[in-house]
Amino acid sequence: MGKLDGRVAVITGGGRGIGAAVAECFAAEGASVLVNDLGAPMEGGGSDAGPAQEVVERINAAGGKALADGTDVTNFEAVEAMIQRATGEFGRLDILVNVAGIIRDGMIFKMDETQWDSVIDVHLKGTFNTIRHASAWWRANRGGQYRIINFVSGSGLYGSPTQPNYAAAKMGIVGLTFSCANSLGGYGVTANCIAPIAFTRMTASLEGKSTVMDYSPDNPRISAENVVPPVLYLAMEQSDWLNGRVIEAGNGKIGLFSNPVMTRQIMTDGLWDNDVAINEMETAFREAIYQPNPFSRSST
Ligand SMILES: NC(=O)c1ccc[n+]([C@@H]2O[C@H](COP(=O)([O-])OP(=O)(O)OC[C@H]3O[C@@H](n4cnc5c(N)ncnc54)[C@H](O)[C@@H]3O)[C@@H](O)[C@H]2O)c1
Repeated sequence: MGKLDGRVAVITGGGRGIGAAVAECFAAEGASVLVNDLGAPMEGGGSDAGPAQEVVERINAAGGKALADGTDVTNFEAVEAMIQRATGEFGRLDILVNVAGIIRDGMIFKMDETQWDSVIDVHLKGTFNTIRHASAWWRANRGGQYRIINFVSGSGLYGSPTQPNYAAAKMGIVGLTFSCANSLGGYGVTANCIAPIAFTRMTASLEGKSTVMDYSPDNPRISAENVVPPVLYLAMEQSDWLNGRVIEAGNGKIGLFSNPVMTRQIMTDGLWDNDVAINEMETAFREAIYQPNPFSRSST
């Protein structure tokens, strides 16, 4: 018995890295998988049918069921056709995993419009496009245990200085996930995020450079396969209690982030006096922020 027997998954960015590891695991666990991948270079702007096709060939050779798809996730109409293809060929859709991604790094004061737009387009709009069309199918086909699993990043959660576009796109996806978690529960859908850590082409430049982890192709802890267990769990029917959360996965660890909570509040009965508000904030918020802000050089 596979953990995903009879279920159907669409995995974007499934031709390489983490997406390919997710696709192969899901197929081995009995899911029929549409492996989407544009075959884009790491900075976007090209295409190659090869990566998705190779993953599908590996899955089929191992006795699984998969289809290759080269749709660009930024194209609203093409994504609608991709979702229709999955439901048409496999009869249903249960799991949507949004893994597709590119990076175009740069400091905010040097970033050009194309760098910003392309990264927002692939990550944020691409994730909207797939959820938009998948959720319309789920609304019309109630009664299932449907799943959205969106890939986000520590880059946004911790604020990577050289990735303002990517950090913004990924945190946009966190907000989109929270909204879907609240709006789609009635249709049997849960929506969660995975913030992965893995040695792939996206992080290959970190090899030997990180002081906190061993980024290398030979380290099993940091392999793409080590991100997969919580993705598999989120895809299963038994994770129906888990909704609107962010889980970090990789380097041998699986961690649950807290969702934002108000930690301190000051109040007035009427109109704030600016000086009162400023003084109370200085006292109450400084006390509440017990750790120095890692993103500000001037904070203590
Ligand atoms: N590797 C890490 O440590 C890490 C860390 C944080 C977040 N992430 C995120 O995890 C996900 C997977 O990353 P990875 O390391 O496996 O990267 P990767 O580059 O190996 O794979 C990403 C895949 O997305 C595909 N893609 C790009 N643009 C596309 C488009 N418009 N339409 C369809 N497919 C497209 C690429 O062709 C590629 O195969 C990404 O969303 C990435 O941002 C990765």
